[in-house]
Amino acid sequence: MNKFIKEQIDKLKPSATLAINEESNRLKKSGKKIYKFGFGQSPFPIPESIVSALKTNANKHTYLPMQGLEELRSAIANYLNKNNNNNFNKEDILVGPGTKELMFLLQIVFQGEVLLSAPSWVSYLPQALIAKNKVHWIQTTSDTNWFPTAEQLENKIKSIKNKNLLLFINSPNNPSGTVCKNLQEIAAVAKKKRISSTFRRNIFAINF
Ligand SMILES: Cc1ncc(COP(=O)(O)O)c(C=O)c1O
Repeated sequence: MNKFIKEQIDKLKPSATLAINEESNRLKKSGKKIYKFGFGQSPFPIPESIVSALKTNANKHTYLPMQGLEELRSAIANYLNKNNNNNFNKEDILVGPGTKELMFLLQIVFQGEVLLSAPSWVSYLPQALIAKNKVHWIQTTSDTNWFPTAEQLENKIKSIKNKNLLLFINSPNNPSGTVCKNLQEIAAVAKKKRISSTFRRNIFAINF
């Protein structure tokens, strides 16, 4: 134990994704043919229009509003409203340097317990452990497309005393790669039970 480090952080295990990456590099070096599924880094180049917009704006250095650039938040709200029949305005949008950090902050501020499906993305559990949030697991299988069913979710919620629950799911799913086909049923249970939910599809989180 390191007395300068908080116990819940000192106890964390190294990232499984990095361990898989190191192991597959080791096997590759030893001459084995390896198909890597461990590291989800995009193989695609950054689009030229984004590179040039970044260059054009590189000299802008003033602090932004806490919730993020106003024009960007308006554009995100418009995009979400146009494509998903929502009714967001810019005050509902928070821009951050990546969903990992935003979900971490959410776990820190959230007062309640966390629902995770097993297997699930490797960062959800350590984030919960750091934030000292109790975790409840819902076991999934290939029969349920590696997503919790609405029934499983409802039964799990019934078995938990704490009324404040936060559910994390993502699609296409990390680690299984499957696409969620029962989000409406899951959302209906979440709405009925008034749980918070984050559904990651690149950069957005929905709060029911
Ligand atoms: C399910 C899931 N959520 C979040 C992240 C991290 O995303 P970001 O780069 O936006 O922080 C990843 C990265 O692999 C992921 O697989």
